[in-house]
Amino acid sequence: MIIAIDGPAASGKGTIARQLASVYGLHHLDTGILYRAVAKAVLDAGRSPDDTAQAIAAAISLDPATFDESALKAQKITEAASVVAAIPEVRQALMNYQREFATRPPGAVLDGRDIGTVIAPGADVKLFVVASPEVRAARRARELAARGEPVDEKDVLADLLRRDERDSRRTAAPFKAAPDAHLLDTTHLSIDAAFRAAVDIIEAVRTGRERR
Ligand code: DC
Repeated sequence: MIIAIDGPAASGKGTIARQLASVYGLHHLDTGILYRAVAKAVLDAGRSPDDTAQAIAAAISLDPATFDESALKAQKITEAASVVAAIPEVRQALMNYQREFATRPPGAVLDGRDIGTVIAPGADVKLFVVASPEVRAARRARELAARGEPVDEKDVLADLLRRDERDSRRTAAPFKAAPDAHLLDTTHLSIDAAFRAAVDIIEAVRTGRERR
């Protein structure tokens, strides 16, 4: 089984994806990490994230086995990841790895921005996870504070909105819901309730009782 989960930052998609993978015994890939790793490689080389040649070279030579996920989640990498993610050749270079990951037995949960539309359009279940920008900003601010990166919630909100806009407006695999994705709004849901809502959708699809 392949489960495709797309959504904006701090919508809850990552947490839901991890929990689903654990419960259904599937592999899990947070695809944002790939774009973050490209961004980090470019920044570490002292280049700007819009240095297209450098970003493409970094994407081609990426080795996911060496990732330090915690370091890649740092706020300073976040904005740069959105910039390199708009470069079509960067996306192309990361595509095979994601598609192969999706088909590893017994299946996988992938979360990102273009999973249901581009990476796994034939996924068994597609979720499009959303939440209000204000709730997402509050969640992200809490996460960053817990990492020892205290931030102003207003700045986080502005960053999120700017990133949503860039990710949605790019021409290469823009961030959008697949037509057959199931919408899950986590604005007023606890982590537990969001997870249960995701399971309900998956079970409904699996038993052929499609919910609208
Ligand atoms: O999910 P995240 O915040 O870690 O993602 C970082 C950036 O990577 C995000 O701004 C958009 C980009 N991204 C993408 O374009 N496609 C994906 N499948 C995953 C992330």
